[in-house]
Amino acid sequence: MDADAPSPHWNRPHLLGLQELSADEIGTILETAAALKRRHSEGETKLDALKGVTVGNLFFEPSTRTKTSFSLAAKRLSADTVDFTAAGSSLSKGETFIDTARNIEAMGVTLMVVRHSTSGAPHLLARNLEASVLNAGDGTHEHPTQGLLDIFTIREHAGKVAGLTVVLVGDILHSRVARSDIWGLKKLGARVIVCGPATLIPPHVEQLGVDVSYELDEVLPQADCVNLLRIQAERQRSAFFPSIYEYAHFFAMNGSRVQRAKKDVLILAPGPINRGVELTPDVADGSRSVILDQVTNGLFVRMACLMLCHQARLAARAGGGGP
Ligand code: CP
Repeated sequence: MDADAPSPHWNRPHLLGLQELSADEIGTILETAAALKRRHSEGETKLDALKGVTVGNLFFEPSTRTKTSFSLAAKRLSADTVDFTAAGSSLSKGETFIDTARNIEAMGVTLMVVRHSTSGAPHLLARNLEASVLNAGDGTHEHPTQGLLDIFTIREHAGKVAGLTVVLVGDILHSRVARSDIWGLKKLGARVIVCGPATLIPPHVEQLGVDVSYELDEVLPQADCVNLLRIQAERQRSAFFPSIYEYAHFFAMNGSRVQRAKKDVLILAPGPINRGVELTPDVADGSRSVILDQVTNGLFVRMACLMLCHQARLAARAGGGGP
């Protein structure tokens, strides 16, 4: 892979979600990330692909993994980075979201990574800025780079995605990761089962092409991968289950459930994990867990996304076109 050459299967200056991507486009990101990971392991720890470019990390919601990972990804591509956090900013003086972003853009930021509690916020910026916008999680809508790194990690460990059965467990209703996983995994030919208390399964979710189960123990033997989604207390405005104890009893991945799963089952979690709620510590730290591999892979996936969007933006400007 030539880090500086435009990709034939990628001409999008923005990465807003996996819903709008084709299987080929998802494949291009995964292949680019795999090549970057390979080069890193061969000692090429710094590339010049974004030299002279400034990446802005605009986080209007808390983050550990995504923010650090995008920041490090930008640095490994030789970009300058600037971090914006809502707390302590002039938002408190009444400045709007779009004006905030326009002012940051006016300082020369051409790649903007955005996390916001409102679904569609990155799309709003993409329509109002010249900069490329990369969605780092918008409300309950999508978290495309998390979906991509989940798929990358599954493919790395299982050797394929098509034909696998992936069970997404927990708070499907509020999970942007669930939506990105569903779009991406389905496009690449996996079977997806969503599983959780009925109150946390969105109505009509079957229309996304998934199967639904309310009994983890029933679907567990079929699972090649189990992705344990966090209970998103910050987005829940009422009680969706009687207590954490009941939730953990029926839906937590514990040692006994791992014993009853396929022997090579992969245990994923987007993090942050609530130990003892979505999964027990022995499973989180156990031999089937690929949770920290997901975090490592996120770095290469985000490098790929930054690089591809930057190249597409330059190509669109040079050609006067673009999508
Ligand atoms: N998985 C994820 O998005 O983690 P952060 O909220 O820490 O970024």
